[in-house]
Amino acid sequence: MSTAVAIAHPNIALVKYWGKRDLPLNLPAVGSLSLTLSGFSTRTSVTWGAPADRLELDGEPIDGKEASRVFRFLDRIDADRPPVHVASTNDFPRGAGLASSASGFAALALAATRAAGQELDRTELSRLARQGSGSACRSLWGGYVRWDVGTRDDGHDSVGRPVAPLDHWDLRMVVAVVDAGRKKVGSTEGMERSRTTSPYYQAWVDTAEADVEEGTAAVLARDLKRLGTVMEQSTLKMHAAMHTAWPPLLYWQPGTVACLHAVHGLRNRGIGAWATMDAGPQVKVLCTPDDAEAVAEALRPHAERVHVLSPGGPARLA
Ligand code: PMV
Repeated sequence: MSTAVAIAHPNIALVKYWGKRDLPLNLPAVGSLSLTLSGFSTRTSVTWGAPADRLELDGEPIDGKEASRVFRFLDRIDADRPPVHVASTNDFPRGAGLASSASGFAALALAATRAAGQELDRTELSRLARQGSGSACRSLWGGYVRWDVGTRDDGHDSVGRPVAPLDHWDLRMVVAVVDAGRKKVGSTEGMERSRTTSPYYQAWVDTAEADVEEGTAAVLARDLKRLGTVMEQSTLKMHAAMHTAWPPLLYWQPGTVACLHAVHGLRNRGIGAWATMDAGPQVKVLCTPDDAEAVAEALRPHAERVHVLSPGGPARLA
């Protein structure tokens, strides 16, 4: 029996991943670019060699689909593994479009391989985490991270890789939690529905690579207007593919729209603020540290809570 504990932060995509070219391996149809964030974290303890497979999330015993996803992931680490006990806690809402699956599978990949007596390098860990949740491959790294589509069928070349460390550029992501409830349609189902039913999906895929290049260049040049512009457009293109799927994927709520208008109002007042969203109603706003309080104040009337998050570091053993 051996136990290891790991901590990972969520990452928010600046240029979005939405759509898979391979379902079982979680290979993306598009590249993406993200920022790992401190402030929110997942802490996961794995005991390799337990009386039975057991999963606890935020103190609650979990079974069904969510548990089998975790235990199938552990089978990838060792097909002849012993029973394993996984206990994971988040200091932010889970399953609400706040990237808890990214930090969750990044922490799990690190803790589980270590508990199993394996020492994988970051790229190998990123490749493994991707198979649990695509966006998790980006949370193995801190700061600004890119995930390439790759060309290989086995996904070997589709991994997260650092673009710039967290201290390259001190930005803030102001997170407006419009509704912390669990989302009704998960990302895999949503992506497949978009791919198979939205007439806008192909346009989304066709324009994504240029956005990743533009976003990467903007990060390297520390050009916030350039990054914010491509970020907000990437989000709106992804949501256009969601909205035009059938049945439609409408993650937006009234507070979401109010936050987006508030962000545009800030820009009209000369404050550099740009919005991004994931598969949920929350709105995340990128800005400088100096503008973060003005941004938070503009979002507060429309949100349950507002968090100001800074660039964060890589997943690590506790
Ligand atoms: O990694 P998943 O399967 O939870 O998908 C994440 C998808 C988005 O959050 C909407 C976009 C992204 O790039 O993180």
